[in-house]
Amino acid sequence: IIESSLRPRRLSEYIGQERIKENLAILLEAARRRNEPVDHVLLYGPPGLGKTTLCNIIAAEMGVNLKTTSGPAIEHAGDLASILTSLQEGEVLFIDEIHRLSRAVEERLYSAMEDFAIDVVIGKGPGARSLRISLPPFTVVGATTRVGALSAPLRDRFGAIYRLEYYSVEALKQILRRSARILRVPADEDGIEEIAARARGTPRIVNRLLRRVRDYAQVKADGVITREIARAALDALEIDHIGLDLTDRHLLLTIIHKFDGGPVGLETLAASTSEDPETIEDVYEPYLLQLGFIARTPRGRVATRLAYEHLGLNPPAAGLGGR
Ligand code: ADE
Repeated sequence: IIESSLRPRRLSEYIGQERIKENLAILLEAARRRNEPVDHVLLYGPPGLGKTTLCNIIAAEMGVNLKTTSGPAIEHAGDLASILTSLQEGEVLFIDEIHRLSRAVEERLYSAMEDFAIDVVIGKGPGARSLRISLPPFTVVGATTRVGALSAPLRDRFGAIYRLEYYSVEALKQILRRSARILRVPADEDGIEEIAARARGTPRIVNRLLRRVRDYAQVKADGVITREIARAALDALEIDHIGLDLTDRHLLLTIIHKFDGGPVGLETLAASTSEDPETIEDVYEPYLLQLGFIARTPRGRVATRLAYEHLGLNPPAAGLGGR
């Protein structure tokens, strides 16, 4: 059974993000009653929280097709034109990583979103002409980890903008119970809780950990996920009791030991940990910020007292370095 089978297909099956569900239900119902496509929707937030899933749900609830692309995949204005001219009325175009669209493509996209028309250039050189092609009304669902990287004009073309938040442990437990049922993995409540507590508020991670703990339970025990089994499996994967992995701890220890607790710039931190700056910023940093383990200052990232304490280190004396 593959990952996609764990994705909820309908809004009623979707666990968590209660405010988004409420608002989205109204958006969808109103569009259905008016017999119009849904307004353009922008979903943003850290990876793994369900942006793609929500987009699939929007298309399913509207009973329309979904076409999927991504910012980096649309290299030229012509690529965008061919995608847009292939859309049928009411269809949903999902643009993942929409912050990575090139400037030129982005500008043509927002005029298409606003006017449902695009100008295509025919021919080259002095004989080139511009032709306006009208498009059937459609819905763009954009997803991004960095809403700040979108230009204001593009952001303004979205009628609904939803920020996904990290899930509570309770919500993750519900997701785990559902996934365990679908995967037919026996798991008791304590086992479920142990996995949920170490999943960094993220459904994608909770489902990944469930599979790894299932492996461990099948190889090392009788196949049943209990707290003891979950603990042993996750300890073996070096995922600590609050869900930090080796990379998280390596980032924190690098700030603390190599840079005296910071501040250290993103590029410098990336170079000294052999991580990609974008991955640090989009994947690791958001949860560490949420935990209050790092702080962002104008001069770079600093490790906080909470980070020292979590790692079992003595925080520097108060007042030093402004912390
Ligand atoms: N699986 C992954 N994310 C989910 C969610 N938000 N609700 C239900 N199942 C999920």
